[in-house]
Amino acid sequence: MKVTVIGTGYVGLVAGTCFADLGNNVICLDVDSEKIAKLNSGVVPIYEPGLESMLKRNIASGSIEFTTDKKYAISSSDVIFIAVGTPMGQNHEADLRFVRQVAKDIGTYLNGYKVIVNKSTVPVGTADLVKEKIKEFSETDFDVVSNPEFLREGNALNDFLNGDRIVVGADSEKAKKIMKEVYESFDSEKFFCDVKSAEMIKYASNCFLAVKISFINEIANLCEKVNADVENVAKGMGLDSRIGNKFLNAGIGYGGSCFPKDVKALIRTANDYGVSLKIIEAAESVNDSQKLVAIKKLISKFGSLNGKRIGLLGLSFKPNTDDLREATSLVLIEELQKHGAKINAFDPSAMNETKKMIKGNGISFKENASDVFDSADAVVLVTEWNEFNEINLIQAKKLMKGNIFIDGRNMFNPKKMSELGFDYSSIGRK
Ligand SMILES: NC(=O)c1ccc[n+]([C@@H]2O[C@H](COP(=O)([O-])OP(=O)(O)OC[C@H]3O[C@@H](n4cnc5c(N)ncnc54)[C@H](O)[C@@H]3O)[C@@H](O)[C@H]2O)c1
Repeated sequence: MKVTVIGTGYVGLVAGTCFADLGNNVICLDVDSEKIAKLNSGVVPIYEPGLESMLKRNIASGSIEFTTDKKYAISSSDVIFIAVGTPMGQNHEADLRFVRQVAKDIGTYLNGYKVIVNKSTVPVGTADLVKEKIKEFSETDFDVVSNPEFLREGNALNDFLNGDRIVVGADSEKAKKIMKEVYESFDSEKFFCDVKSAEMIKYASNCFLAVKISFINEIANLCEKVNADVENVAKGMGLDSRIGNKFLNAGIGYGGSCFPKDVKALIRTANDYGVSLKIIEAAESVNDSQKLVAIKKLISKFGSLNGKRIGLLGLSFKPNTDDLREATSLVLIEELQKHGAKINAFDPSAMNETKKMIKGNGISFKENASDVFDSADAVVLVTEWNEFNEINLIQAKKLMKGNIFIDGRNMFNPKKMSELGFDYSSIGRK
């Protein structure tokens, strides 16, 4: 099948590469000509395990190509995926500027029946909006379907190819049949429904997961007060199949390119309809406070953070990505700078991104994880990168000025850390 993917970010690039690997002819279109030039030579501009080798293989076989030529990309395929960004707008709404532009481009170059697939996360009603926009520029027949994406950065290839489910909202039988063909070779459970429900499924799913995280974080904070252990609590809860054991890891808050903006966008949609989503609003507010838990712990240890050197281990919003969007590290850096602290920072893949986003003010960017401990009064583990297990903690501790270690992701063993001489605390554990 001939497939075009518009937008070559985390979602578009992964989708395009996987579709090519499954035997389709894929054209990826982006307005960012620098990115397209890199991709055509097999260079992946994001960090995503396994993606580069899959991409190179498919460039070599001619199954995938990258272009900035809108007319060529739109007119050459039967199915067109829209995978452009839908960032948070000024009033917390999903900013549909890029989606509208793409709809206009599709309308301009539409040359026969095609299925237009909204893969970007978009509010209920966006398929109608895309349809209207295309119709402004074209009289050709087409259908718009909703096919939200559930992949997680860091595990994107596997999630895309073997996800729990593929959701397709299609209001026409013709489009539904074509989408069945697109996903024929996937083993994931396929769920077909109406367009608007599919659009809601994505937001409802992300908001539910955000609620689950904030729920366990609140329980963790209470565990600290009553001297219970949140890991035991989560394990005991998760054994109940109605609850499940996933997304019950306490920590210093969720970030990333999806949860924060999708939570805000659904609250905004509800408000537009005069509805208030109290549980989801509470999850958001709990998360905002949770991002400050490490700062509160540091202040309770030191009194004032002025002049203290704090090491930050990990900066990306989660391991195996260089994505810093809404990362807890950004909140911590801002707060530490506000309190006059000096910062040592290291991340295995997000150093360049951090340097671009954060102005140097008192930050010493380190070459490796151990250097974060150098002269530090305290170290905070912000992102649970697996490779931090390789740090020689005996040597690292010797580099420190103080001995405080705050484990924001409950990665290390409390007993072992105390035995090593750290003044160790984590989130909700004894
Ligand atoms: N990142 C994730 O983990 C994830 C997971 C599920 C869903 N989503 C959703 O998927 C969508 C895309 O997210 P992302 O993280 O891949 O975004 P991204 O910001 O990484 O990439 C978007 C790409 O679209 C391109 N673009 C913008 N306007 C364009 C236009 N008019 N024509 C062609 N290309 C254009 C940009 O240059 C960029 O390369 C969003 O709605 C997001 O919420 C993301």
